[in-house]
Parts: sequence; C-alpha cells; structure tokens
Amino acid sequence: MPAELVCFEERCRARFPIADVIYNCPHCGGLLEAVYAAPAAPPAELKRIWRQRRTANAPLDQSGVWRYREIIPFLETYDSVVTLREGNTPLLDAPRAARYAALDALVFKHQGFNPTGSFKDNGMTCGVAQALRLGMRRVACVSTGNTSASMAAYASAAGLQPIVFIPHGNISYGKLAQALDYGAKTLQVEANFDQILALVRTLAERLGIYLLNSINPFRIEGQKTIIVEMLDQRDWNPPDWIVLPGGNLGNTSAFGKALRELYAWGFIAKMPRLAVIQAEGAAPFYELMRTPARSYRPVTHPETLATAIKIGDPVSWPKALREVACSGGLVEKVSEQEIADAKAIIGLCGIGCEPASAATLAGIRKLVAAGVIAPSASVVAVLTGNLLKDPDYIYRYHTGALEAPGGAAIHSAFGNRPVVVPNDADRIAEVLQT
Ligand code: F0G
Repeated sequence: MPAELVCFEERCRARFPIADVIYNCPHCGGLLEAVYAAPAAPPAELKRIWRQRRTANAPLDQSGVWRYREIIPFLETYDSVVTLREGNTPLLDAPRAARYAALDALVFKHQGFNPTGSFKDNGMTCGVAQALRLGMRRVACVSTGNTSASMAAYASAAGLQPIVFIPHGNISYGKLAQALDYGAKTLQVEANFDQILALVRTLAERLGIYLLNSINPFRIEGQKTIIVEMLDQRDWNPPDWIVLPGGNLGNTSAFGKALRELYAWGFIAKMPRLAVIQAEGAAPFYELMRTPARSYRPVTHPETLATAIKIGDPVSWPKALREVACSGGLVEKVSEQEIADAKAIIGLCGIGCEPASAATLAGIRKLVAAGVIAPSASVVAVLTGNLLKDPDYIYRYHTGALEAPGGAAIHSAFGNRPVVVPNDADRIAEVLQT
C-alpha cells in the first residue's frame, strides 16, 4: 500500500493521494494523517539497521529523523530532503529533579539539543521535504516562536522563502532573533496565536503558500521519531510514562501515533502512558479531559509566561484526545509558580530548558504526590526547548522580578541573584567566604 493521507475522523476516513496539497479533509473538515502499511523488513532487522546508521557519514543516516525513514515512508525519493542533523538528542539522567518529584529516577529526553534548539526541527525537516516535493516556493506558519525559528532555518537551507506570523509582543526575543537571522519575512500580528492561525490558513490558500503549522501531517511524521529515537536509546524498553507539555497538541498527536504504530508493527510489546501537562491559564485540553462528555471549549484569552504553550484553541485536540485515551494516559495542569520552580530545578541539574518544557517536571511532581505516578515508575520527560530560548524569564526569576500574567509576584524559591562586587580582591574574598 503506498502512503496516503487519510481523514482522521472515524465516521469519514476518506483517503487522498499523499501529494495533494490539503491540510483538512475536503469532505468533512477533519484532521489528516499519513498512513502506510507496516514496514517490509521485520522489526529486529530494522532495529539493527537503525543502530548501524548511527555510525555512518551519509547525511540521511546522521539525521535522527531520516535514520528511521522506514517508519515515515511518505517520500518516493530522498532528493528533496534538507537535514541539519536534527534529532540525535540525549537521554539525560536527572537525580536531583527525580528527588524534587519524589521519584526514584527521572530521565529527560532533551529536544533543546536540536539545531534550532527545539523539537520542532524533527518535524520541520519532513515538512520542508514535502514542500519541495510539491514544488512550493514559499512556506508559512504562525508560531509562539519555536516553529518559526525552525521553519525559517529549514526553509532557508532549502532555498524556500519562509514567512513567519507571530503574536506581537508575545514571543521571546531569542526566538524572534532566530527567525530574523535565518532570513524569514517576519510579520508581527496584533492578535493571539489562535486568531492568527485562522488568518494564515486563509492566506496560505489564497496566495498558494505551503502551511507548516503542526496541522501539516508531515510535520507530525517527523516528530514521531522523537519517540522512536528514545526507544532506540533505551534498547526498546518502553518507560511506564512519557510526559510532555501540551500547547497546540501536535507533539501529543505525534507521540501517540508513533506508539500506536510501533506497537501494531511489533517494535514494542508495551504501550507507555502519555501524560500531557498544560499551563493553568491555557489549559483547554485539561478541561476537556475533565468533562465526562468530553465537550471541547477553547480558552478565549490564554495566559501564561510559558509563551510557547500560550494557546487557547489547540488545533490538534481531536487527535490528542484519541492518543491520550489509546495510551491510557491523562492530562494535568500546573501553575506559573510550579513551572518557574520546576524550571529552576532542571537548571540546577545542569540541564536547563525553556519555561514550557519545565511544565513536565511540575506536572510529574503533582502526579506523584497525588499517587497517580508511582515513585518507582520509569518516567521519561521530554524537554521541548533549550534554556537560551527565553533568558529574560530566567533573569527575572532569579532576581525576584518575575510576575505571573495577572500581576502576582512569583516567589523565587530557588533564586540565584548575581552579585555586584567592586574590583577589589579582599572584598571579593569576603563575599566568597559567606
Ligand atoms: N514546548 C515548546 C518549547 C513549544 O515551542 C511548544 C509549541 C510546545 C511545548 C507545545 O507543543 O504545540 O505540539 O503541543 N510551540 C509551537 C510554536 C506552538 O509555535 O512554536 P505542541
């Protein structure tokens, strides 16, 4: 069976050629996913080949996405692939964070080690490959910052024109700087993420620009490899829990799809449970999971200092709902204070991350305290973005100047103020003795 685009809605399941330029089902408006037959080679053989490719010099094999190309076979040839050697992110043991969460052990899969510093690179190499295959010249996205940084880099590397839409005043300078430096035409719109997404979808169609938000099913294919690589690094022993932050819910969709496919195709014998963590002020998915009828209501004015996940109307919620249910997972929400403290703890592990990523540790701590995650459980938390993405937040936290969106002060429980000293050895020695 060749790769196809299939409507995600159970009642529709319409099928379309893989090279159609569509983002939603033309029949029912449902989300689309790429669907394939199981790989021809048996799992044991593919696992061996994938491990071997890690030592190869071929760009495709060095990529932590394309190394696993047998489970993302939507291209006929690999001529259109542009790789910046994305993926290849480490699993880092973090005993101090484990203690903070009252777990025996905790491992971070740090996607901030990617070329543009976030997990978006795993998906973007695939989205841009598809754009080239389709003969598109311009690509666009709305973004809370990381998607735009990633798209700008990959599009420019591929010779495409990147057009970035961002909510004015609501993304960190680190991310805005990346979009500018990677050469994106950058439009700062006076609206929030959800409003701009509606706008960009209309414009993409009108102007023939290829849309690279996570509604694009090929980005989801690339993000599946975060899970594949993590399992490969664990010699195919699935953890009990995989914990990730939830914003637009593309990553939740990708992780769930990867797990379902790997399980169905015989790569793993057990399904880990997905735990999605949202920020309290932007938690429509959490609210959805709490209502027995599973009725969805967007948050009109999402608020959080973790701007990466400041999203009130996550486009992929239907997929995320199915994936979380399929994995026996759950959704939790955490406060601004909890995110800020968890972030400082991740810093103290010598690891660091951006605020949205720290929602994972805050959520794990809450779930262990509630008896949902057992202290002895094996837990992998995905840190989605690099520490340097949002230095302003960090400086404010450590100097006691961080304020939650409503204006409430955030207590710097783990604050670490820089100390101003005179150019005087004796005085400095004094400071260092205390
Ligand atoms: N963590 C970080 C660092 C992110 O940048 C995002 C999303 C998420 C978590 C949430 O992932 O949307 O797949 O649920 N950032 C998007 C962007 C929305 O535009 O960069 P999700």
